[in-house]
Amino acid sequence: MKVVLRIGGSVIASPPNPQLMNRYVEIIRRLLDEKHQVAVVVGGGKPAREFIQLAKKMGLEEREQDEVAISASRIMAQLVAMKLGGYEWKDIPKSLSDAVAALRERGVVVMGGLKPGMTTDAVAALVASEIDADLIIKATNQNGVYTKDPEKYADAEKVDEITFEDLSKLLERDKHVAGIHQIIDPEAVRVLKKKRIRMLVVNGFNPQNVVAALKGERIGTIIK
Ligand code: UTP
Repeated sequence: MKVVLRIGGSVIASPPNPQLMNRYVEIIRRLLDEKHQVAVVVGGGKPAREFIQLAKKMGLEEREQDEVAISASRIMAQLVAMKLGGYEWKDIPKSLSDAVAALRERGVVVMGGLKPGMTTDAVAALVASEIDADLIIKATNQNGVYTKDPEKYADAEKVDEITFEDLSKLLERDKHVAGIHQIIDPEAVRVLKKKRIRMLVVNGFNPQNVVAALKGERIGTIIK
């Protein structure tokens, strides 16, 4: 299968967790052994947000703040890539076409952000769309998609399965709650909906969930 694995910065980088990062490298190796093609997109997490704050306090504009967050995500990607393939894999793709070329050559690519004004979710969706992925797995800090933000509402319920259409409505409703951290970037949902690429949201603190998900186990939330 062609798989996009989106590893949340909230999972491996908040703060950066070397054990967890290495476990993801093992998981990626395993997926490659199982003959999957894997595009890995990692987020910058806490360091990215710290650099955003730093840039903001220096008076830099928004796209400049985004650029430093992108750099932070690329450092996380670089660490994973070098652990996976050694020093030769130190260069992280900076464009969609570079990412696709690397994937074609090696069967795997590890990348971070691409350009200001988007999130790594959107990057993962764009890559998935470009390579016609069979599945995108989002390894995040929650067990799946909930009807409301589970960190704020005790009556939030996890959904096992949801359509892109219903998810869009859910995100639209949540948009009005200021400062909400949306489980999936609506822009990513839009891209995936168009191509009807299935997305699975699982708890990333247990990387084994990724393997289980690919084996067809019913965990997390499937969006289709
Ligand atoms: P994300 O919020 O996508 O990364 O990017 P994350 O740390 O993995 O988030 P979780 O784990 O889902 O919570 C962090 C910030 O980096 C900038 C944006 O400012 C974004 O909010 N960014 C990232 C870009 O500007 N462009 C990109 O392509 C990626």
